[in-house]
Amino acid sequence: MRLTVIGTGYLGAVHAACMAEVGHDVLGVDVDQAKISALAEGRAPFFEPGFPEVLARNLENGRLRFSTSPAEAAAFGDVHFVCVGTPQTPGSHAADLRYVDAAVQGLAPHLRPGALIVGKSTVPVGTAARLASGLDADLAWNPEFLREGFAVEDTLRPDRLVVGVTSPRAEAVLREVYATMLDAGTPWVSTDLATAELVKVAANSFLATKISFINAMAEICEATGADVPTLAEAIGYDARIGRRFLRAGVGFGGGCLPKDIRAFRHRASELGLEESVRFLGEVDAINLRRRSRAVSLARELVGGSFAGTGVAVLGATFKPDSDDIRDSPALAVANAIRAEGARVTVHDPQGVDNARAAFPELDYSPSAQKACEGAHVVLHLTEWAEYRQLDPAAIAEVVAAPALVDGRNALDAAAWRAAGWTVRALGRQ
Ligand code: UDX
Repeated sequence: MRLTVIGTGYLGAVHAACMAEVGHDVLGVDVDQAKISALAEGRAPFFEPGFPEVLARNLENGRLRFSTSPAEAAAFGDVHFVCVGTPQTPGSHAADLRYVDAAVQGLAPHLRPGALIVGKSTVPVGTAARLASGLDADLAWNPEFLREGFAVEDTLRPDRLVVGVTSPRAEAVLREVYATMLDAGTPWVSTDLATAELVKVAANSFLATKISFINAMAEICEATGADVPTLAEAIGYDARIGRRFLRAGVGFGGGCLPKDIRAFRHRASELGLEESVRFLGEVDAINLRRRSRAVSLARELVGGSFAGTGVAVLGATFKPDSDDIRDSPALAVANAIRAEGARVTVHDPQGVDNARAAFPELDYSPSAQKACEGAHVVLHLTEWAEYRQLDPAAIAEVVAAPALVDGRNALDAAAWRAAGWTVRALGRQ
């Protein structure tokens, strides 16, 4: 099939390359010329394991091309996937729909007869119906559940495929698009537009709630001398609860969970349903309190004031195996500490370029050990595998004081203590 993918960010670029990988002819389109040039030359504009290989293979075999022209996209495709961002609107909790609206409006006048538009962006419930009215083409919604760091795997082998459609023909076209996944036994959920939109925000709200639940338990553990990783393990053996997404720490960030729960609350209150998802306000508040707790643990370790201290922050991205720093808890903590008068040096295996562009006032270091030189406290805030390989004895030799805050409960606290470190962590002693 001939597919276009409008918007080549983390979601769209991976979707485009993976659709070519399963045999379709794909045109990726974006308004960002630099991004399109990079992709066309086989250079990934972001760090995502496995993506450069899929990109190179499908550029090489000719099934994947890139363009900046919406008219070319409309003329090329039988199916048009809309994968543009829906960020938080500045000064509001609402999702900013201007890129989705522009993508659909850009395609509409040039569409071939019978073309299908398929939204993948995360949108407030009701958006698809609004776009469909006034459009002289069929429109479907097909939410995306990929996790950064596993984006290629999640796209080629998804847990499920969800499509919101208004005609049997649209469903048949989408079944053909995803034939490879369906042949492999992927569950298929076909529904109306509103349910498809809600599946995505409901899934992300549930995941955010699960993380904030365990982080609320971490607050209780801190006050009572209990140990949250052990608590999470013990409740997680109950298959109804499950162990995944119960890692207590500095909480969730990224381009999805925080803005999606806020946009959901905003949309619910527009619909007069504020009470139904009011708890998401608590989920958000618990999450942000964890960042403050990491700051206060570090402040205690430096004797009550950051003024004139050196602080090392290990991790800048919102999660490991990504270079994405959007709403990163690590950088929020780093900035809060800097605002209290510390000299903060940040290390990250992949996120330093993005972090420096957003926060030039922080210092950056090319190695974890160098970041720790002269530090009065070290904070571990993104659980990259390389930080678990650090030698606590070697780091102890370069710091000003061997004090560690493990904000992800991922380091071997006993090994660090044995090397002379004072260790504090979230939700444990
Ligand atoms: C998320 C959803 O998982 C995905 O399905 C959706 O399509 C987009 O949003 P992503 O943002 O890539 O994906 O990251 P995810 O792996 O969900 O992690 C989100 C945040 O939660 C990270 O900051 C992570 O560090 C944090 N987290 C995750 C925890 O703090 N504890 C956990 O137990 C799990």
